[in-house]
Amino acid sequence: MAANYAGLLADKLERSGSRREASAIRERLARVPAALISAQRGAQAPGSLGGLPVDGDSRLNTVDVSRPSVGEVQLLLPSGLQARLQEFLSSVLHHDKLQAAGVSQPHRLVMHGPPGTGKTQTARWIAAQLHLPLLTVRCDTLISSLLGQTSRNLRRVFDYAQEVPCVLFLDEFDALATARGNERDVGELQRVVIALLQNIDALPDETILLAATNHDQLLDYAIWRRFTFRLAMPMPDQELREQLWAQFLGAYVPSQLSVDQLAQRSSGLSGAAIEQVCLDAKRAAILAAKPQVEETEVFRRLGLMMAMMEGQRLHSLKSEIQWLRRWHPRFFSQRVLAAAYGVSQRQIRNAIEEEDGHGDQGDESAT
Ligand SMILES: Nc1ncnc2c1ncn2[C@@H]1O[C@H](COP(=O)(O)OP(=O)(O)OP(=O)(O)O)[C@@H](O)[C@H]1O
Ligand SMILES: [Mg+2]
Repeated sequence: MAANYAGLLADKLERSGSRREASAIRERLARVPAALISAQRGAQAPGSLGGLPVDGDSRLNTVDVSRPSVGEVQLLLPSGLQARLQEFLSSVLHHDKLQAAGVSQPHRLVMHGPPGTGKTQTARWIAAQLHLPLLTVRCDTLISSLLGQTSRNLRRVFDYAQEVPCVLFLDEFDALATARGNERDVGELQRVVIALLQNIDALPDETILLAATNHDQLLDYAIWRRFTFRLAMPMPDQELREQLWAQFLGAYVPSQLSVDQLAQRSSGLSGAAIEQVCLDAKRAAILAAKPQVEETEVFRRLGLMMAMMEGQRLHSLKSEIQWLRRWHPRFFSQRVLAAAYGVSQRQIRNAIEEEDGHGDQGDESAT
């Protein structure tokens, strides 16, 4: 209670212009012994993870706690990565045995790769497999608007993670670890990196630390080195795309729908994008009171997703029709397009001819 009131007082002082006093109070608060905080937490609900660390400036929670369960988190990865992940899990589960033999290593895994390839999903999967809560640190919140607080925020999070058995996950890690970005803040960000290194080094080996980043090339090498396991998450290949389509469409796949075709046509899409197409198609099926998705609808949604990935802006239904025709002429016959858009084949023909009249846009399949 006293700590809470002191925090409110600091906020009030700051608003009335006494920044120095405010930060002095916050300094003191940050040094409140951890034991005191856990005692306070013990008085809340037993076994709960109350009193999450909060960003001192914005008052936003810097940590999310979730409890993913084994059945709910599906992860599809190429066999090589699966094996590597299993290795990581085994080294966590058999820590004592490895330690007794003097060959244990810290449980630290970094995942890097393009957006939507399953990095966050992998963290959830690991927590589920280990039956531990997942503490996700929002690194962007952590980089407080008052950069001066970041190191202290970091400290709080790492302290917190040592109080309860959990998986600590630094998501969007590059926000923390890119020390060379903004010139004006270089000094402060350098300090953040140093603080991060110190915090990682101070962690007991058995604390499970995961990190994910889209920009591996921006990571400070010193930080990189501290993660013994590294997973390079790839964009899904044909085989994995087939599995993703089958997984996300689930029981909504009609028998004539070829998952193989979908996989071929979705080359270059991430798992997240495929999931999005499937969700859209399933929603359409449910709203139309159909037990399964329509093949045309799945291909149409996929086509529109591909257009977006290629930076095509389709503002009108006519431009959608023209794009789909160019994208997959064999599938999108005039008849199929007319049915999909609820217009006459004549209107479809006009739209197509209009575009051909304007000269096609360099796509070899536009006949
Ligand atoms: N390999 C995969 N296996 C299972 N699901 C996946 C896979 N890749 C993507 N997904 C699905 O896509 C969604 C987004 O994936 P996720 O959030 O893990 O991507 P990410 O790599 O963390 O992306 P970002 O870099 O944008 O944070 C997930 O909810 C998941 O359902
Ligand atoms: Mg993510």
